[in-house]
Amino acid sequence: MSAEGFFITFEGGEGSGKTTQINRLSRILTDNGRRVITTREPGGTSEGEKIRSLLVQREGGNWSAMAELLLLFAARTMHVEKIIRPALENGDIVISDRFTDSTRAYQGYGRGLEIDIVEQVNTLVLGDFKPDMTIILDVPPETGLGRSKRRLASEKFAEEGACEDRFEQLEIDFHRCLRQGFLEIAQSEPERCRIIDATDTEDNVAAQILALIKDRF
Ligand SMILES: Nc1ncnc2c1ncn2[C@@H]1O[C@H](COP(=O)(O)OP(=O)(O)OP(=O)(O)O)[C@@H](O)[C@H]1O
Ligand SMILES: [Mg+2]
Repeated sequence: MSAEGFFITFEGGEGSGKTTQINRLSRILTDNGRRVITTREPGGTSEGEKIRSLLVQREGGNWSAMAELLLLFAARTMHVEKIIRPALENGDIVISDRFTDSTRAYQGYGRGLEIDIVEQVNTLVLGDFKPDMTIILDVPPETGLGRSKRRLASEKFAEEGACEDRFEQLEIDFHRCLRQGFLEIAQSEPERCRIIDATDTEDNVAAQILALIKDRF
């Protein structure tokens, strides 16, 4: 737990609305006079963004699950030490688009690494550092993937680099495992994690999130 700042992470499958809702929440908190830093994983630092491109782009390489785990935590240690911890010490609200729960879900539940291995690396790298609050946006994979496909089709990805769609190519069963993973993570840490039904309209999802946040401040 941070002494002064507040660390919020958004989790959930592709197209569940994380980026959309983070932007909305950040705007509301900023309008209310809070200092807010939004960031994302993998990434968050220039070094982490290099690792991101290895992991999410189609041409990034065919990494084993263990190699992915280590790359993710290499990026995450830079992210926490250079960006997240200093901001929290400064009293800021930090909102990250994905964090360790995505590693639990994707590399553990999705790719079949033992969760205990993920936890061991997490403890080695981060100790007991963890988000103050995690909002899990829950949608059936068909809904989320449908939204993502529509977004990708309408984006010009020329300047943002080769399309970040490697995971979208994986079969629907994989995404069902991810969803199950996020729900189990939430069950195992009910104090930290809140599940939101993200099939609802953007406005209604935003209202649910705001109610949770108001509750905590
Ligand atoms: N509640 C909603 N209902 C319908 N469409 C939505 C909703 N929320 C977001 N969208 C749309 O779905 C698409 C995906 O949303 P967004 O990019 O926020 O999801 P994401 O969880 O960040 O996805 P990714 O994991 O791929 O980054 C966007 O085009 C967005 O406008
Ligand atoms: Mg996003």
